[in-house]
Amino acid sequence: MAIFPFDIQAREGKTRTGVLHTPRGEIRTPAFMPVGTTGTVKALYMDQVKAAGADIILGNTYHLMLRPGAERVKRLGGLHKFSGWSGPMLTDSGGFQVWSLAQLRKMDADGVTFQSHIDGSTHRLTPARSIEIQADLLGADISMQLDECTNFPCTHEEAERSLTLSLDWGQRSLDAFGDRESQTLFGIVQGSNFADLRERSAKGVVGQGFGGIALGGLAVGEGHEQMCATIDMTIPHLPDDLPRYVMGVGKPIDLVESVARGIDMFDCVLPTRSGRHGQAWTWAGPVNVKNAQFAEDLSPIDAAVDCPASRDYSRAYYHHLFKAGEYLGPMLLSWHNTAFFQALMAEIRLSIREGRFEALRARLTADWASTKS
Ligand code: GUN
Repeated sequence: MAIFPFDIQAREGKTRTGVLHTPRGEIRTPAFMPVGTTGTVKALYMDQVKAAGADIILGNTYHLMLRPGAERVKRLGGLHKFSGWSGPMLTDSGGFQVWSLAQLRKMDADGVTFQSHIDGSTHRLTPARSIEIQADLLGADISMQLDECTNFPCTHEEAERSLTLSLDWGQRSLDAFGDRESQTLFGIVQGSNFADLRERSAKGVVGQGFGGIALGGLAVGEGHEQMCATIDMTIPHLPDDLPRYVMGVGKPIDLVESVARGIDMFDCVLPTRSGRHGQAWTWAGPVNVKNAQFAEDLSPIDAAVDCPASRDYSRAYYHHLFKAGEYLGPMLLSWHNTAFFQALMAEIRLSIREGRFEALRARLTADWASTKS
């Protein structure tokens, strides 16, 4: 298995900024990965995603195996060619989406059998099948091990049983992955919010020899404080030289606080999902363009974000588009939000390089305090 070179170029406190080198291009870290669940970052052209500053996007085993089918994607040239994204791509292994979306699911020691949320048809995922889909059929640059995500809250006993299963599936995922020269595989730490279990899981996953380490079981309703506490109890058990990825996170303040704790990579549907529902994320906090106060507001969404959607259309126009149910509303707002999240990450990276991350963190915390962002 390839271990992509990870070049950490500057630090401040626990933060790090650098470059993860992949055969398909460089990933500047800390990185936010837009989510392209079904081979599309919803409502955006890949050119817009790229121009917004994203180096890497996500794809999803669960969704793509159900529709259009992983074998079909392979026949059509793989997910990069099929979707028109030529940069690095990371795919999630499917377990999390089975847990959150599938209608009926039955776990056993070897995998999970579930019914599609689309048509009720029965499917099965094992660690080896997930790797086959991600690495062979979709052609992911970074694959994720198959894992099980626990509910929140859950008992110590449940979390312990689950992390033991995930460790076993991690080893099976590695065995199935084998010697690939240009692709890598990340392991996933579980253990809910129990310090002893996070430690055990982290040490186990690190010992298995993955190309990067993800923190799973977060963004499942635990809230900001618990998320931060869980990151804090996990980081000391991770090596310095591998990328660290918090899965499914998060709001802008979650990103800032996770970077402060030593995280390098993120993914979340928030920019595009919020964009489809009229919620803009800005340097001043969240703004709901459907709110009546914007009906005649000629100011842009956020003039400080270097994106046409952020600068060139008025809040009044956004308000109208969403009130009228026009397609352009979600398209423009998903574009703005994606550009804002990338602008935030770029500013975080620069602030670490210039030794002013703590000042940025303090300013954003103050600016966003009243807005619950
Ligand atoms: N996405 C968000 N959380 C998780 C997790 O715990 N596991 C996986 N595989 N994907 C996730």
